[in-house]
Amino acid sequence: MVESASMHARLMRRATFRQLEIFEAVARLGSFSRAAEALFLTQPTVSMQVRKLTDVIGMPLFEQVGKRVYLTEAGRELYATCRELFRTVDAFEMTLANMRGLRQGALHIAGVTTAEYFLPRILGHFCQRYPGIEVSLEVTNREHALERLRANLDDIYIFGQPPDDVDVEALPFLENPLVVVAAADHELARARRIPVERVAREPFLMREPGSGTRLAAERFFAERRLAPRVRMELGSNEAIKQAVAGGLGVSVLSAHTLRAGEGDLVALDVIGFPLRRHWYLVYPHGKQLSIVARTFVEFALRDVEAARK
Ligand code: PGA
Repeated sequence: MVESASMHARLMRRATFRQLEIFEAVARLGSFSRAAEALFLTQPTVSMQVRKLTDVIGMPLFEQVGKRVYLTEAGRELYATCRELFRTVDAFEMTLANMRGLRQGALHIAGVTTAEYFLPRILGHFCQRYPGIEVSLEVTNREHALERLRANLDDIYIFGQPPDDVDVEALPFLENPLVVVAAADHELARARRIPVERVAREPFLMREPGSGTRLAAERFFAERRLAPRVRMELGSNEAIKQAVAGGLGVSVLSAHTLRAGEGDLVALDVIGFPLRRHWYLVYPHGKQLSIVARTFVEFALRDVEAARK
């Protein structure tokens, strides 16, 4: 048994990869002419290569019945061996492609504005680990990020709430509590268990239309049949923070926008807050993610997990 296996190995080494490819095509398609067509070869070339392979093996591989060819027992064994061999080679090629991709690929991310408070840190770690990957981050509001998603412009999107009108995969990866913010010297700053109705009487600073933060705040008030007294609309979290600190009113923002050590703003203790939300890594359902994008998704989930510990 050992001896015949090693003899077989020695025989097979005299066969060429090309011959095995040709044989596999004939076996799979059941015809020399169809194999020739599929491989862009002439039929005599196919026949000749199969004949050479048959000589190497020392046993007939096909039987001809009418126009169709059938595998002999040795042919069936060789066919199974070829399938196995090609599967292994394909897997190796895939591994190579992946290694190349991770060495010099590109990653395009579009994130809603609040993502800029935590995403660069994750991207920093990612770029340290994969220095060859070029990363671009488009920071924009929800509506614009949705437009980019519909146009399939980026690999990955970061949303505070998965879109409901586009079929997507959405992986929650980080908590995103929304809080009511006020100036540190606001009269409610030290109050406990503030009713929402009280907040609704304060001048309110609202994010621009199209903002996910705005949507969440509006929804929260509407569900309680309240409407905030909007004093001003501002187009970014930073602009809102400056206006709140300047005493122009209160607002609802992601707690991520409040950096430790910024003493001029506080999160108020309002009943019903913080609104418990998440950040989601999002991509269109069914989209074949590049190896770089897939690696980033796994990396981001792990990075956030590690930071929590
Ligand atoms: P925004 O996004 O920047 O559009 O407000 C935040 C979110 O979607 O939660």
